[in-house]
Amino acid sequence: MTDLRPRRSLLFVPAANARALEKSATLPADGLIFDLEDSVGPKEKPAAREALRAHLAAAPATGERIVRINGLNTSWGTEDLLMARGAGVDAILLPKVESPAAVLAVATALADMDAPDDLKLWAMIETPRGILEAAWIAEEGAESRLAALVVGPNDIKLATGVAPGPERAELLPWLMQIVLAAKSFGLAVLDGVYADFRDAEGFAGECAAGRRMGFDGKTLIHPAQIAPANAAFAPDPEAIAAAERIVAAFAAPENAAKGVISLDGRMVERLHLEEAQRLLALNDRIAETQQVQKR
Ligand code: COA
Ligand code: MG
Repeated sequence: MTDLRPRRSLLFVPAANARALEKSATLPADGLIFDLEDSVGPKEKPAAREALRAHLAAAPATGERIVRINGLNTSWGTEDLLMARGAGVDAILLPKVESPAAVLAVATALADMDAPDDLKLWAMIETPRGILEAAWIAEEGAESRLAALVVGPNDIKLATGVAPGPERAELLPWLMQIVLAAKSFGLAVLDGVYADFRDAEGFAGECAAGRRMGFDGKTLIHPAQIAPANAAFAPDPEAIAAAERIVAAFAAPENAAKGVISLDGRMVERLHLEEAQRLLALNDRIAETQQVQKR
């Protein structure tokens, strides 16, 4: 079974920004992606890495914690990896992944560092080659530590020249290919960031579309985007009620052996039971997260 951690909202936090680091520990995002890559200028990289090391050691974990490192082909990547490996985070996010080899090289490096098996790798898919190879990255990566694919729309736009309109129509084939690759091999898949953080309506529309596409959640750049993403990617109350009815119906003795039943005028199959159980379990996990955040 795929892991049921809620990943409705994953906020990028620039490691070079002391105020953002401090504030991040108070925010209700399902996860924080501490960034050492594109939001940190070349001259700031070493200081940002040290600030992040100190922050991760001191601040309480309020959700999933991920560090985005610089690529191992840069002069910062190896030091970033060593820091992240020692920081007790949940995952390391690799930028601009274009081949399974890029994931496996980091997995091998982590094995050499005796990293625990539950330290996962996530891969940014944000180049033309990365999109083309997404299926192979997911397939081979899933055999080692790879647990999620993350869309990087800004790099995709830069590298391809695509200029998506309001509904992202020009990007849809690529986005769906990334979703398909992730789902084929049991990986989580997260939609890309929405840069215009003052445009609440546009953001809500993109969240809703991302959810319809099958994304587990959205990567974010600003605290104001957390609550709308949490709402958009949470199971809605009608879906929860329907799932409860499906579970109850299949639990009835007369339906115990049946593969298909009729419920509220609709055909319901056993595959819907599994989906209903998954939804209820996810909903429970979200409720638990909210308990933790309230404390
Ligand atoms: N993480 C944590 N805190 C953040 C934040 C983030 N990503 N973005 C903003 N904040 C904080 C600000 O520090 C400020 O804190 P305050 O309580 O002291 O006022 C508050 O939220 C409001 O921020 P605001 O003034 O509206 O935005 P800003 O002008 O400070 O920052 C950006 C705007 C875009 C520069 C900033 O949101 C950012 O750096 N985002 C992430 C960029 C990134 O990581 N990119 C790489 C991945 S695409
Ligand atoms: Mg990028």
